[in-house]
This record gives sequence, structure tokens and C-alpha cells, in this order.
Amino acid sequence: MQKILVTGGLGFIGSHTSVELLKRGYEVVIADNLCNSEPWIFERIIELGGGASKVVHENVDLSIKKEVEALFMKHQDIAGVIHFAAHKSVGESVKLPLKYYKNNIGSLVYVLEEMTTRNIDHFIFSSSCTVYGEAEELPITESAPVQKAMSPYGNTKQVGEEIIEDACQAHGLNAVALRYFNPVGAHDSFRIGELPIGVPLYLVPYITQTAAGLRDELLVFGDDYPTRDGTCVRDYIHVMDIAEAHVIALERLLNKSNAENYEVFNLGTGTGSTVLEVIQSFERVSGEKLNYRIVDRRPGDVIAAYADTQKASEILGWHAHRSLDNAMNSAWQWEKSIRDL
Ligand code: WQD
Repeated sequence: MQKILVTGGLGFIGSHTSVELLKRGYEVVIADNLCNSEPWIFERIIELGGGASKVVHENVDLSIKKEVEALFMKHQDIAGVIHFAAHKSVGESVKLPLKYYKNNIGSLVYVLEEMTTRNIDHFIFSSSCTVYGEAEELPITESAPVQKAMSPYGNTKQVGEEIIEDACQAHGLNAVALRYFNPVGAHDSFRIGELPIGVPLYLVPYITQTAAGLRDELLVFGDDYPTRDGTCVRDYIHVMDIAEAHVIALERLLNKSNAENYEVFNLGTGTGSTVLEVIQSFERVSGEKLNYRIVDRRPGDVIAAYADTQKASEILGWHAHRSLDNAMNSAWQWEKSIRDL
């Protein structure tokens, strides 16, 4: 059975993907330095993935070259890498750009160096719809122009994609970059989910924490956008659908069925939802009334972004099949479970 390295495998999307890999029979090496994750998530991955014998956790800092070397030295038989490990706060990246470049770019380069030296040539990269900025046409196709990044975080995703593409050309690497729209929800078992440290950055954990009583109210940033109800539109995609897409993309590489050695796919549902629609979905599935208030626009928000999903559907044979209600329900069940509600 093939061994897959999952960097950042204790994080939100990494943990769900690790479980999917284990269920598909892969061995998994999780490299995670716990800078934005909790050690007990590893126990939950073992529980959901079917036992401890097929998965290990290595506490490594991938932005330190020696640690990356030691990791690959210890696990000589890695067949492919899914690279999630990265800092992801847009706001923090503006204040601390070098922290972001060192971690997100440094770790990417060190992992790719080890892979090319050792002839491991299957790589999946965690990219983002943030590369499109405010797209001129909706839904957004993969051929939409990449806009100048609005933050160092966004830039690490853009530059990361370019680094990988160059490595594919020069070193025969086979890679897929997956551009996520807005990942939300939790595992069907509600045993793993999103675990924000401190005040949540994103809409859905902010909603569930407000309903759970950790936050007083949700501030809705602007209701004067040119959209159907004035609030911004995003493509909220269930994390389980995203996890499944990673396994499908990996298998495409492992089976050498990729036509080109560098490919990019959008991971979205194809449907946009407004902030108010997300709140309505939450209220519908939870039976809770959410305390929220409309305030001014948040600087830097794009008006609308949702994916054209045709390429992923045609080439990967993948599409999202879980609804927003399903995602909101799982996010709420998960929030309640970690707050003992
Ligand atoms: C969604 C909507 C907010 C919080 C982020 C990253 C981006 C990419 C995707 C990773 C917007 C509104 C939010 C709140 C609100 N991530 N909102 N009140 O902005 O689409 O993008 O995730 O690569 O880089 O920036 O996600 O969840 O922050 O916001 O009204 O308290 O919810 O204005 O319309 P966003 P988000």
C-alpha cells in the first residue's frame, strides 16, 4: 500500500483528507508542527480512519530545511505529497509578510527539493480562489487571469503555483494545484472540523461561535453590494467534498492518467450564496436565531466569487454533492460537540 505525506495534516482540510486517504487504504504520514492545530485531532483521525497502524504524526517545522531532510530520510518510501502546511491569515500576513514568505514559500521549496532529489513526482498543492481577485466574469474558470495578490498570504499562493509549475517543467514533477473557494462544514461524524485559534477569521466559524455564545454578535460586512440582497456572494463548499477531490486528484497522478504534468482545478460547488443566505441556512438547520448586525464593508472583500466547475467535473470526474444546509448543520454539530452544548 502506498504511503502519502500529508503536510499540515492536522489542520482543517488536512485532517479530513487524511481520513479519506486512510479509508481508501493508503498509509499516511502527517507532518504538522501544531502551530495552528491540536494534538487530539490526530487521535480522531486514527479513530475515523480505522486504527493507528497506518498513520503516524511527525512534529516537524517544514520551514527548517534540516527537519524536512530528516522527515524524508525517515520515510524513504513516500509515493506522493499533499501539501497543506501554510499560514492562512490574510490580515496577519499584511502585518508579518516575512513570516508568511518564510513559512509558506520556504516549506514549499524544501519539500519540492526533497521530492525532486528522491524522484518522488506526485504533488498536490493547496491553492485558493484568492488568486482570481475580483474576477471579471462569473462563474470563474481556471483560465481567468490571476490578479495581483491583495495580501502577502494571497501572494504565497500565486508564487507557490508558479514555483510548482517551474519545478514540473524542469524536474519532471507531476503536480495538481487545487484552488479552493470557501471550505466549510465538518466531518459527517462531527468528530473533526474547523478549529480556529482565537477569534475566527472566516464567516462560518464566526456564525457557529456566535450561536454557541462565544461571540456576542456576527457583524455582516456591508449590505450595499450589487448582489441580490446586497451582501457578498461566495461559493461555500463542504470540506468533505474537498477532501474527496484531493484523493481523486492524487489517484490521477499515481495512475499517471494526467495529460499534462501541471494542472489547476477549481474546487467549488458552482453556486454562489450571499452572507444572508448562509445565515438563513444556519438558522434553518440549527433552529437557532443568530444575533447579527449589518455594518460597513470590510476593506478588500470582493463582491462575488463562485467557481466554474466544468473542468474538475470533466477531467477529474469530481463534483461537490453536499449542500450548504448539510455543511452548516455539520459545522453546528461540530461546534456544539467541542463546547459540550
Ligand atoms: C466570507 C463572506 C465577508 C466574516 C477568505 C480568504 C481567502 C480564501 C477564502 C484561503 C465575505 C463576510 C465574514 C464576518 C462577514 N481563503 N463576513 N462577517 O473573504 O471569501 O475569503 O477565504 O485561501 O483568501 O480571505 O471568506 O469567510 O472571511 O468571508 O460578513 O465576521 O462573509 O465579508 O463576504 P473570504 P470569509
